[in-house]
Amino acid sequence: MSDTTRAVLLGIFTLSSCIWVGGYVAIVVVVRAANRSLEPAQRVAFFRALGRGYLLVGGPALLVALGTGAGLLSDHGWDALLIATVAVAAVLVLSLAVGVAQARRMTRLRAAALASAQDVRLSAGVRRGARAAAALRGTIGLLTLTLIALGSLLAT
Ligand code: HEM
Repeated sequence: MSDTTRAVLLGIFTLSSCIWVGGYVAIVVVVRAANRSLEPAQRVAFFRALGRGYLLVGGPALLVALGTGAGLLSDHGWDALLIATVAVAAVLVLSLAVGVAQARRMTRLRAAALASAQDVRLSAGVRRGARAAAALRGTIGLLTLTLIALGSLLAT
């Protein structure tokens, strides 16, 4: 690969990784602020708009980071480290897809629970779903950190 191609790939890789990681951290801060300052009904509408908007930014940023990262590693032999990195990247993409489907279900569930506030089974479902969603979001964060660590090892 020529030096120019490598420099272009590295620039796009750095930018897209920053958008993915920075976006994730920013969402955590926004979610905490929204939970403190919005009423439940406003929160559901806000997260629906935020989630859908961010999916169009974070999803492509992650795919571009993985694609350019793969390009930068194209000369690297298939050793255990590279195989582990590809596996973690695949699990991350899969977790994001599951996380988005789960978030959509949560939005519907929260809206239904708000519409029938006395329904104890719906409220219990919201609590269970929120715990599962938080675990999956935490997993996405951990997988991202693992990928950064593996990528740094591969780059040395
Ligand atoms: C990093 C990539 C992320 C993407 C692409 C993403 C995307 C989405 C999408 C598409 C929705 C569903 C909106 C709808 O159609 O109803 C959503 C909802 C939501 N997201 Fe995210 N999200 C991400 C990360 C996070 C993180 C890190 C948190 C919190 C720490 C979070 C908290 C929420 C919450 C609270 C909802 C509302 C549904 C619920 O109550 O669980 N998201 N997100």
